[in-house]
Amino acid sequence: MEKLLMVFILCLLCFHALGDDIATNLARLPTNLVIQQDNHIDPLIALPGEPYYPSRISTNGKQLNGSMFEDPKKCASCHEDIYKQWSNSAMSLSWKDPIYKAILKRSSVATNGKTDNFCIGCHSPIGVTTGNAFINTNTPIADRGVDCDTCHSISNIHGIGNAAFTLSPMMFGRKLVFANRDDAVSPVHDTAYSEVHTKSELCASCHNVTHPFNKLAIERTYDEWRDSLYNSQGIECQDCHMPKVKGRSSNISKEREDIASHTFAGANTTLLNHFNKDTTSNYALFKTAAKMEFVDLQTLRLGMNTITIRVHNVGAGHKLPTGFPEGREMWVYFLVQDSTNRTIYESGKVEHGHTKEGTKSFKAVLGDKNGDVVEVNVWEADRILSDTRILPKSYTDVTYMFEIMGNATPPFRIQAKLNYWPFPQHIVDELLGKNKMKVDIVEMATLSN
Ligand code: HEC
Ligand code: HEC
Ligand code: HEC
Ligand code: HEC
Ligand code: HEC
Repeated sequence: MEKLLMVFILCLLCFHALGDDIATNLARLPTNLVIQQDNHIDPLIALPGEPYYPSRISTNGKQLNGSMFEDPKKCASCHEDIYKQWSNSAMSLSWKDPIYKAILKRSSVATNGKTDNFCIGCHSPIGVTTGNAFINTNTPIADRGVDCDTCHSISNIHGIGNAAFTLSPMMFGRKLVFANRDDAVSPVHDTAYSEVHTKSELCASCHNVTHPFNKLAIERTYDEWRDSLYNSQGIECQDCHMPKVKGRSSNISKEREDIASHTFAGANTTLLNHFNKDTTSNYALFKTAAKMEFVDLQTLRLGMNTITIRVHNVGAGHKLPTGFPEGREMWVYFLVQDSTNRTIYESGKVEHGHTKEGTKSFKAVLGDKNGDVVEVNVWEADRILSDTRILPKSYTDVTYMFEIMGNATPPFRIQAKLNYWPFPQHIVDELLGKNKMKVDIVEMATLSN
């Protein structure tokens, strides 16, 4: 029944598009353009034979070429603020990112190119569908990363994750952008209202990553959100990562109360600093994410002591941390000193580019078929060995036990810091060489007695 309705709507659309009043009517296309998913079980991965296998990208059978897409700099002549925001975000660097490139090359060599389309499908969707992204050479199109025309050419999603979206540039022979408004009119492109652009499912197509051959759940930011209270409260990815602000979306349009900003603030300040980008909104977002508190704090005394700290995920709409599991790590640095500043107990120090053994870490650890830890070679992963990340609106307790000897002088001081890095320094050094990229350790919260 639903299918029939769909066909009917599509026919209507085609009919509409073929009418002789294209120029006036196309400026506002019907809202039904976005085809809703049906209720079949999502296979999560592409099936052999799909056009960009093992990526799930679709172009609806159309052959695309680079000239169907524009350089974001062109959009900047009108959408100045949005362009600035986007160009300071990680998504504008999704191809240039040196860590991505290093692992992309390793994966390509190790799998004889079997994963190429897969990685490129999310890190440069336009590159893969127009044949303009290659493992070893740079092209202007790939360098744009996940850009304006990537997201605004998405006409539909046909599943969750692994790039299950359809790119439909120039759908009716001229520039058409899909987005959140049904009353936007522009002199240089048509606009179509797209419900999916207002929903987390748009982000899901890239922020849920499944191993394309063994189906291991590698990244699950979307699922983590879907299973959280934020979903039931109608708080979408966009509400936190594209907050609405008063202003104009272009230099030539009217003021509105709720323009979707494009900062896409996230956690990877290391990458942004490396490219001298503005990280203000990222640090601000970090400050909203977590909280620490003592549980039943007793006065420290000579002999054995036990301290419990409760770490809350108060502001992230998914696990804390989420995303790329190989590097992302949050941990508690914990220090006890006596009144002469002598260290009595310390945990969570960084040594040789690692957090020291015994550190209370919040992290997912991937494993291979022998049960060994996978640190970099993600294509070898087939299991999750452990996952201590904190669920949204939830908390985890960490407990420290230590002895205070007789020669220490009270009062005793506790200092705790909640730290985050997107990658341990030793992995960055191994991939890029020493002193090529300095990992930024972000202090998310602090606590003392
Ligand atoms: C000549 C100026 C101009 C240029 C260049 C331009 N736009 Fe626009 N665009 C507009 C105007 C005006 C609007 C309507 C804004 C409004 O109503 O608030 C708009 C609206 C939009 C919207 C919102 C549509 C909706 O339905 O909500 C998107 C998305 C968009 N443009 C993307 C782009 C992209 C991508 C490019 C570059 C490929 C681009 N624009 C280039 C002027 C321009
Ligand atoms: C990762 C996907 C993504 C990228 C990249 C992206 N956009 Fe958007 N854009 C969106 C989404 C999603 C919305 C609607 C957000 C909402 O409704 O909450 C949007 C909304 C807009 C709007 C309408 C804003 C409003 O509220 O009226 C304009 C204009 C726009 N984008 C232009 C651009 C331009 C120009 C670029 C490149 C510099 C760009 N976008 C890059 C996803 C993206
Ligand atoms: C076409 C694929 C694609 C889509 C669609 C997409 N993203 Fe992304 N996003 C990426 C990639 C790839 C990266 C990582 C780039 C890198 O670090 O190399 C990223 C990075 C990010 C980051 C920064 C992460 C960090 O570590 O700091 C945020 C935040 C983000 N995306 C939010 C969103 C939101 C919100 C949406 C939906 C409105 C969305 N993305 C849609 C591909 C996508
Ligand atoms: C309630 C607000 C909220 C919602 C909803 C939300 N996020 Fe986040 N997100 C955050 C905060 C806060 C951070 C920074 C802390 C962290 O790293 O998790 C973050 C970080 C991220 C990062 C960087 C994580 C890392 O460590 O690499 C990505 C990627 C991301 N979000 C994507 C998404 C996507 C996709 C959705 C929707 C499925 C979403 N977020 C929904 C608040 C939110
Ligand atoms: C389904 C979409 C998708 C596919 C396929 C994909 N990625 Fe990503 N990748 C992402 C997103 C989204 C992020 C950002 C997550 C975050 O910030 O935590 C990311 C982040 C990364 C990062 C971390 C970058 C940084 O600077 O921290 C690396 C490295 C990476 N991807 C490499 C790869 C490689 C290599 C492949 C192919 C084997 C691949 N990706 C396939 C979506 C994808």
